[in-house]
Amino acid sequence: AVPDPDATGPRAGSATSVRVEAPGKVNLFLSVGAPRPDGYHPLTTVFQAVRLIETVTARRQALDARGRITLTLADPDDAVPTDERNLVVRAARLLAEATGVTEGVDLLLRKRVPVAGGMAGGSADAAATLLACNHLWGTGLGLGDLLDLAARLGADVPFPLMGATALGHGVGDRLTPLMGRGTYQWVFALSREGLSTPAVFTRFDELSATRVADAGAPAAPAEVPEALTAALRAGDAEALADCLANDLQEAALDLRPELAEVIETAERAGALRAIVSGSGPTIAALAPDSATAQRVARALSASGQCADVVRADAPVAGARVVG
Ligand code: C5P
Repeated sequence: AVPDPDATGPRAGSATSVRVEAPGKVNLFLSVGAPRPDGYHPLTTVFQAVRLIETVTARRQALDARGRITLTLADPDDAVPTDERNLVVRAARLLAEATGVTEGVDLLLRKRVPVAGGMAGGSADAAATLLACNHLWGTGLGLGDLLDLAARLGADVPFPLMGATALGHGVGDRLTPLMGRGTYQWVFALSREGLSTPAVFTRFDELSATRVADAGAPAAPAEVPEALTAALRAGDAEALADCLANDLQEAALDLRPELAEVIETAERAGALRAIVSGSGPTIAALAPDSATAQRVARALSASGQCADVVRADAPVAGARVVG
């Protein structure tokens, strides 16, 4: 009889493990509109992928594992659950359901993006998982299908699949790549405690309520200024710094007033600009060059105002198979 390959284990020639890397992000521009009936906010944003890299390794299981999806952290962290609450597990489950896969997978996650820091680390993990399982299981989805699945997992999940620099519309999930040149030097000041994204959006709504009452109409998100896309095309860090904007910054600073001092420290040490990254509490400082970035990082470390300081250049590529 002809052996049934599915009954005898992995398909001939298929890998037993797939390793994928995916980047964290910083929002160069984030304009937030009034909430929709479902609570989500329409927004216009510019994402840039930074060299803080999450790694997901997907391993084929023994045949008796009965389709379980397991997650192990390379560095155990109480703030990162390993059950269904983790977007990694939900990403693998969603891909399996969407493609009819009944095989399970053992996932190993190594984190370098700060947890709950406004840098979409969890979203990068989910994006990496979609790509890793797509390869391991041989489900063969193209980038378009993976982007659709990613958007169902969260507003920030599609971007790490794409990487580089991109314009985000919708709730941040509809992407258009942006042309650019050059490399930017970022310094990130990490906080001891994360901020919950929904909590920051809620505070944004509270702070906006007064303004909306004054102005009489709910705000739609603003378009990206031409000066920003021009700065990116020119690779001009100084011009880009002038265009950095984040509508969630006021809400994040309202919840964590001490972050204002971190911004001041970074700018006094030579950063062109420092802003709250996404929903925070990470502060992203843009430096004009590598030597200044080092100076800014040292000043932030010495200030005692942050839990950790990391440097990263940008932009970098989106999720890719590395092994
Ligand atoms: O989609 P994601 O899980 O990344 O979003 C986390 C939370 O952030 C949402 O539940 C929502 O409260 C808030 N959010 C929002 N508007 C967006 C994106 C996120 O209100 N465009």
